[in-house]
Amino acid sequence: MSTEVKAAASPLWAKPGATINHDAMSFMSRDDVILDRELFLFDIRATKAHVNGLNSIDLLSDDETRDILHALDELVELFADGSFVLDERFEDGHTAIESYLVEELGETGKRVHLGRSRNDQVAVALRLYMLDALKTIRAQCLEIARAALGVARRHEFDPMPGYTHLQRAVPSSIGLWMGSFVEGFLDSAELCALTRHWIDSSPLGTAAGYGVNIELPRQQVSDELGFACLQLNPMAAQASRGRIEHQVVSTLWQAMQEVRRLAWDCSLFSTQEFGFLTLAPEFVTGSSIMPNKANPDMAELLRASTAVIGGALSEIQQTMSLPSGYQRDLQITKPALIRAVNVTREALTHIPKLITSATYHTDTMRSAIERSMLATDQAVDLAKGGVPFRDAYKQAAAQIESLELTDSTIDESLRSRRSPGACGNLMLDELERRIIAGVGSEPHAASD
Ligand code: ARG
Repeated sequence: MSTEVKAAASPLWAKPGATINHDAMSFMSRDDVILDRELFLFDIRATKAHVNGLNSIDLLSDDETRDILHALDELVELFADGSFVLDERFEDGHTAIESYLVEELGETGKRVHLGRSRNDQVAVALRLYMLDALKTIRAQCLEIARAALGVARRHEFDPMPGYTHLQRAVPSSIGLWMGSFVEGFLDSAELCALTRHWIDSSPLGTAAGYGVNIELPRQQVSDELGFACLQLNPMAAQASRGRIEHQVVSTLWQAMQEVRRLAWDCSLFSTQEFGFLTLAPEFVTGSSIMPNKANPDMAELLRASTAVIGGALSEIQQTMSLPSGYQRDLQITKPALIRAVNVTREALTHIPKLITSATYHTDTMRSAIERSMLATDQAVDLAKGGVPFRDAYKQAAAQIESLELTDSTIDESLRSRRSPGACGNLMLDELERRIIAGVGSEPHAASD
């Protein structure tokens, strides 16, 4: 896309006699203005709050304020129905808003940028965008947790092998396996909430990074946008750009780690060698040459999506080597952030259906449990009877061939593990309580 992007015809900062080299401008903008489509509505919202702020300190009259707010509402509608296209005619989304206002309102439109810079403008738009993205992703994590809970309940005591090092270890259950994703995605949801809390402060009103010689009603503007607090020091506000993005993408990476583990398990357990599950037809593809194939492409691409998030994290990390003050380098963190958000959102969308529509082959799983896997229970049983555990371990090792492997000894193995969270006491009701509490306690933040 970037090679096709032409430079903006006339940037906001153009001065008489200044040279605009369009190739150089294209390099500096790249696809930034196209990415600003994702930020545009947040930018407009923050612009409205800024305008109200100027009005309350009499730097915009009531009439001017009304006209600007009205024009901004119109711009939202035109953007939504596609009649206002944000493209390379503008240097960026911020320029587009101002150009629209000047075109619609003339003199009045030219007043909107008083007391702000594109540096705090982009920072606040990004902040609102990230709060919104984390809110959606948190809700998606809770939905996945709920879907996994349904599978865990259906198969609470259905046995499957538990592996360590991918070697058969002890009897486990589908309930335990799926319950691990319930808790994993609950943790991810919690991390989204924590990160939202951490980033929930307004940089608007810090201008280019040094404040302005107006007493801006920053708190009022921040309250209007719903932020929990202000970022006070203007230089600190600028210095947080990129680092906040890094924290957000790192949060997404955590959620995607659970996706990767789930996708790995799905691809492994659906092999002919395991045969533990069959993915629904909509999630597998055929081969162009081998008529017999049903490939778990969805699981594989979900697994690989995590790499995209890791790449974005690294891009942001590599950019963060800057002195104080705004540097244009920071623009490079934007594509990484937006890509990570979009890939995560899209990946998470597919997970509930992927796990609820799979067929779990309970007989195959049960029959993959072999006698030796009861040895740990046997050692513990002997120790419970008074034998020191290290001796019991040796005795159980010597008794493996005589251990009784039947459906009921497997079931008993699961049910006898009673400590909280173990196969015989998964505490699925408690996990459900945590999901409900999570859904009910959506923390208030500026994107609400
Ligand atoms: N696209 C720019 C960015 O993302 C907007 C801010 C431009 N500020 C500036 N001083 N050139 O950082």
